Amino acid sequence: MDLSVRSLQKAESEYFANLVVWFISKGYDDIDASFPARILEAHFRGYDPFGYFTVRKTVLALDGPRALMGFVVAAEKRGGSVKFGPTIIDPKHQRGGLAGRLWELVEDIYRDKGKRKVYGTWPAWRVDVLKFASRMEWEIEALLREQYRPGQDEFVAGKFLLPSSPPLTTVQTWEGEGKTRDASFRLLKASDEAEFSDLMLSEMSKFYSEIDRHFVESILEATHRFSHGYDEKGKVVFIAESIRGGIIGCAIATPKRGGSVKLAPVIMKPLLTSIDIHVAFLEYIHSFFRERNHRKLYSLIPIADIDTVRATRQAGYVS
Ligand SMILES: CC(C)(COP(=O)(O)OP(=O)(O)OC[C@H]1O[C@@H](n2cnc3c(N)ncnc32)[C@H](O)[C@@H]1OP(=O)(O)O)[C@@H](O)C(=O)NCCC(=O)NCCS
Repeated sequence: MDLSVRSLQKAESEYFANLVVWFISKGYDDIDASFPARILEAHFRGYDPFGYFTVRKTVLALDGPRALMGFVVAAEKRGGSVKFGPTIIDPKHQRGGLAGRLWELVEDIYRDKGKRKVYGTWPAWRVDVLKFASRMEWEIEALLREQYRPGQDEFVAGKFLLPSSPPLTTVQTWEGEGKTRDASFRLLKASDEAEFSDLMLSEMSKFYSEIDRHFVESILEATHRFSHGYDEKGKVVFIAESIRGGIIGCAIATPKRGGSVKLAPVIMKPLLTSIDIHVAFLEYIHSFFRERNHRKLYSLIPIADIDTVRATRQAGYVS
């Protein structure tokens, strides 16, 4: 069958939104009309107004000989990967192998653009998705426990479009037992913004690609949306401050649909922190969200950032 992929058109928005709400609410909590509306907003603007790692979101439509047969949302991330999802094949055309054909065409588009990797997540009980993803040579990379819904685990899977790179050299920031033994923790204030930006730009770039002023500004903007909730990807920025004054660390938290909170990145200033401070900072953040009845905190940590890996384990996170 002759198939091709193109960008979703304005006139197809309602068709897209209806299928997304209908199918995706079966597997996830807190899915209402705002979910496809945010995707469409990013798609038609050409950038994601609420993204921080996400730079651009595109809805790619699969055209068959006579009609639109399905679509996939592709979110381009800083650092060269592309997240797929949701993927929906029109109910009239499901079980015909089209999802894999769609992914193949979209993978080709992003390989041609120089993207390194595609990845996605889906509920672990979705054997149908696992089947076509395996056929497409996607590999399971992680199991996220009860990530977006109580009692429902989630697979993370991906595929390299270009050969994978060697691991980064590990970076250690603590010196011995650390120099600053006492620190206090609080939320970001407007007067912290310049110091916070400097810390993010200098320290985060050790572990992440494409960290620039625009990235930092998008985080600062998102702190003003925190009270709007997950719908607009509001964020909370936590600050660790030395008792002598000056910011020695920060952490960014994003509440998600389904009741969990993503904590990433956690950045500590080299040579000024100790494991005690790092762990106490994580415990402070944990209490903040527990008091507000969030279900779960999870963190994504570059393996090269061995201090944060160690402190996070010591704070009781499992990996
Ligand atoms: C999931 C989905 C994208 C799969 O697309 P598809 O083109 O139908 O996929 P395939 O035809 O390659 O089917 C994959 C496998 O799952 C099986 N399968 C597909 N739909 C199924 C269903 N509703 N019930 C049971 N098995 C199903 C197929 O038989 C096939 O198994 P096989 O390899 O043993 O033949 C499509 O069913 C869909 O759009 N579902 C609704 C949206 C959704 O849930 N998306 C995934 C979450 S992001």
